[in-house]
Amino acid sequence: MTPKTSGSITTSNNTTGKLSSVDSSFMASTGSRSTSGGFDEGSKSPLGQILEAPNIRTFTFMELRTATKNFRPDSVLGEGGFGRVYKGWVDEKTMNPAKAGTGIVVAVKKLNSESMQGYEEWQSEINFLGRLSHPNLVKLLGFCFEDKELLLVYEFMAKGSLENHLFRRGCAPLSWELRLKIAIGAARGLAFLHASEKQVIYRDFKASNILLDANYNAKLSDFGLAKLGPTGSNSHITTRVMGTYGYAAPEYVATGHLYVKSDVYGFGVVMLEMLSGQRALDPNRPNGQLNLVDWAKPYLADRRKLARLMDPRFEGQYNSKQALEAAQLTLKCLAGEPRSRPSMKEVVETLEHIEVMKSRTREARGSVVGTRSPTRSQHGACTSGHRHTVKLAVGQGLTATPRRHDDPGGDADDDNSSCTWP
Ligand SMILES: Nc1ncnc2c1ncn2[C@@H]1O[C@H](COP(=O)(O)OP(=O)(O)OP(=O)(O)O)[C@@H](O)[C@H]1O
Ligand SMILES: [Mg+2]
Repeated sequence: MTPKTSGSITTSNNTTGKLSSVDSSFMASTGSRSTSGGFDEGSKSPLGQILEAPNIRTFTFMELRTATKNFRPDSVLGEGGFGRVYKGWVDEKTMNPAKAGTGIVVAVKKLNSESMQGYEEWQSEINFLGRLSHPNLVKLLGFCFEDKELLLVYEFMAKGSLENHLFRRGCAPLSWELRLKIAIGAARGLAFLHASEKQVIYRDFKASNILLDANYNAKLSDFGLAKLGPTGSNSHITTRVMGTYGYAAPEYVATGHLYVKSDVYGFGVVMLEMLSGQRALDPNRPNGQLNLVDWAKPYLADRRKLARLMDPRFEGQYNSKQALEAAQLTLKCLAGEPRSRPSMKEVVETLEHIEVMKSRTREARGSVVGTRSPTRSQHGACTSGHRHTVKLAVGQGLTATPRRHDDPGGDADDDNSSCTWP
C-alpha cells in the first residue's frame, strides 16, 4: 500500500532537526525520557500543551495481539499507507489487554511489511503526537516495537474519518452545521500546532486524517510527516516533497519549500471538499475536473455560482450567507502565494464568527441536484490508491493525472459498512 511514486524528484533533505534523531534507547523506554524533540519542554497553551516527554505506554506485541483478538479481520477499522487499523480492548487503568466488550476501546495501527511507510513515520508519530496534547488532536496511547513489528495505539474515534462521512457510500450525509463544527475543530487543531513556539507543520492535512469522536468533535491524526517549522528569519523549510495528491500546496509541490501556510492550503482543500462533497482529486470526474481546486475555485466567490457547487447531499439545507462566507474563507486559504493565505488563528476566528451568524436558515436556490456545471462522479467510485500519503512528483501534484497504484482493498470504497463503529 502507498508505494512512493518512484522517480520522484526530491529536493534538499532533512529538516527535522532533533526530531529525526531519536535513538533506540527511546524505544526501550516507557515514555519517561525526554525525546529532545526540539519543542520547548512543557510549553502550554490555554487548551493544549506540549509534554516534556511522550506520556505513552509500551505494549508488547502479544498484548496487542490479545487486545485485537489476534488482529482479526472483522476488527479492522480501516487501512492506510502505514497498514491496517484494528479495533481493540484494553483495561482503562492498566492498559492491559481486555476481553472484547470490556474496558475501553482503542485503535491499533499495525505496520504492513509491504508498506512504503515505516520506521520514520512511526517515530515521528511518537515524537509529535506523543507529546502534543490538545482536544483537537487524537491521543496516542502507546506503541509497540518488537522485531520488525511497529504498532501504534490510539484513542478510538467512534465516528471514523471525515473522508468516510463525505465520500463513502452508505454514510448518511453530514449536515451543514456538523460540517461547520468539524471545520472549526480541525482548524483549532492546526492553529494549536502553528501557535506553539516551535511551530509544527502538519504537512498531511486531508479528510482521511481528520477523525471524529462520538460527538463529531474533530481530531487530527497521523503526524508521520509533521515537521518543526522554520527558525530565525527563515520563512520556510526545505524538504522532500511528501504528502497526498490534491491537498499539497502548489509552492511545496513545485519547490519543496514548506511553509506553515502550506498547511493552510490543505485546510482550504478540505473546506472545498466539505462544501462540494467532491474529492480533492478524482480520476472518475470528466477531463479537466480531476483536480477539485482547479475547477471549483471560480465557484467560490459568487453566491449564485456557489449554489451550483454546494454538495447536493445538503438538499438545500444550509444557510447561504454562512456558506458564502465559508467559501470566501476557503478561497483565501487556497491563495497561490503562502503569504496571502490567512493564519490558522484567523481561520478559526472567521469560522467561529460564521457559526454564530444569525441569518435565514434555509436556502435551496440553485442547489438542486444536477443543476451545477461540474459533473459529479459517484460517491466513493474512485478506487485508485493515490489518496494516501506518498512522495509527490515535483511539479505534478496538482495538475497531472496521478499514478495509480495498487490499493489492496484498503479504503473499502465499495463497502457499505457503517460510518459509526459500535
Ligand atoms: N483512532 C482511530 N479510531 C477509529 N478509526 C480509526 C482511527 N485511526 C484510524 N482509523 C480508521 O482507519 C482508517 C485508516 O487510517 P490511516 O490513518 O492509517 O490511513 P489514511 O489516513 O486513510 O491514509 P494515509 O496513510 O495516507 O494517512 C481511517 O480512515 C479510519 O477510518
Ligand atoms: Mg491517516
